[in-house]
Formats: sequence, structure tokens, C-alpha cells
Amino acid sequence: MYTLQVNGISHTVDVPGDKPLLWVLRENLKLTGSKYGCGQALCGACTVHLDGHPVRACVTPISAVGEQAVRTIEDIAYDAVGAKVQETWQNLNVPQCGYCQSGQIMAATALLTDNPTPTDRDIDEAMSGNICRCGTYPRIRRAIHKLANGGV
Ligand code: FES
Ligand code: FES
Repeated sequence: MYTLQVNGISHTVDVPGDKPLLWVLRENLKLTGSKYGCGQALCGACTVHLDGHPVRACVTPISAVGEQAVRTIEDIAYDAVGAKVQETWQNLNVPQCGYCQSGQIMAATALLTDNPTPTDRDIDEAMSGNICRCGTYPRIRRAIHKLANGGV
């Protein structure tokens, strides 16, 4: 049995310790906003926050989560920076198919929380692990720059 804090709510789940956090979120807690892409920490579709840091939930065993606060895309609108990121994503029509975008928003929110005025290099470092098959990278970059200029 593991007890974890997800989006401010405590959940106890009866799962093996090596079950990835992504599948606990999706299967046990029915939080399906975090997506499965590669399962190997290569695409970023499954990105969630642990104590505010972006992690790949597909390779994070539930046994490694402990008391760290898990935040998923379902809760990001309740984060001051995350709400602005979502709004800007919408205003600039960033998503295409949308599949990668919860991971993109989680990564961008973590970046802008740590560094409200990122350079292009900072953006590359923070976002390069989040793959978009639709090639929305220019819109993602524009949105992050707009948020930086808006003084997130
Ligand atoms: S599904 Fe986790 S990084 Fe691709
Ligand atoms: S919007 Fe389709 S994969 Fe990124």
C-alpha cells in the first residue's frame, strides 16, 4: 500500500512498488491528462511535477514518490503560473492534436516558475525533452516568450 499526495488530495493505493506513477495516476486515480508516449523517459508526454520539479511519470516507480507532492495537468489551473501558461497556450492556439501538450504545459510551468525570464537557451534546456510530433515548437517558444514578457 502506498499513500501519495496528488493535487492536494491524499490517496492510498494497493499496487506493486515498481508500478510507474503514470499508471497509478491513469488507472488507479483516473487522472488521464498525463499521457503515455514512449514509456522510456524519451518524449515527455507523461510529465508531472514532484514538489514542483518536472519528472517523467512513466519511469518513476510509485515506491520512489514518498511524501513528495504530485501535481498533474488536472490541477495546473490552480497554480498561479500554470493558469497563465494554460491561458497563453489557448490564446496562441499552441496545441495541434494536443497529445503532447499536458507534458509541454507541465514543463513550461516548471521552467517559468524557476526562471520567469528564460533565454532561448534556457527554453531549449528545459523543453528539449518534450517531443511534439505535430511540430508545435515555434508556437510553444512564442508562448513562453510572451509569458516571460508578461512578467509571470
Ligand atoms: S511516456 Fe514518459 S517520457 Fe515518454
Ligand atoms: S500537438 Fe500533437 S504531438 Fe504535440
